[in-house]
Amino acid sequence: MNIAIGADHGGVDLKHAIVARLQGAGHKVQDFGTNSEDSVDYPDFGHPVANDVEQGKTDFGIVICGSGNGIAMTVNKHAGVRAGLCWTKEIAELARQHNDANVISIPARYTSIPQAVAMVDTFLTTAFEGGRHA
Ligand code: RB5
Repeated sequence: MNIAIGADHGGVDLKHAIVARLQGAGHKVQDFGTNSEDSVDYPDFGHPVANDVEQGKTDFGIVICGSGNGIAMTVNKHAGVRAGLCWTKEIAELARQHNDANVISIPARYTSIPQAVAMVDTFLTTAFEGGRHA
């Protein structure tokens, strides 16, 4: 799959772990940064991910900030982007099954690397159920 990812300074370590995991699994990752803990504005890293999703350049997007909310609000301004804020594997599964989310937003300061990687794995492998959710 093609996957676009972006994070602010709160999510750098988590982003690096997720990118390594995705590349290890054979996915093509477009990493829009940021890559240091210097303070940045999360929209600068969310909009490029949303643009790729909006333009069909990527299968899924992953966005990360401290709470996951600011960057989720940013990407959800784009037509065709459906970002879900996820904090457990089950919520990530439901975001795909019921909401057909195409972007997962992760709260870096309120999760762990293993939990976030598990959420991403689940998100990428769960299908939209359609039916009453369509
Ligand atoms: C950055 O300090 C923080 O405000 C940001 O990562 C995020 O939590 C905003 O929603």
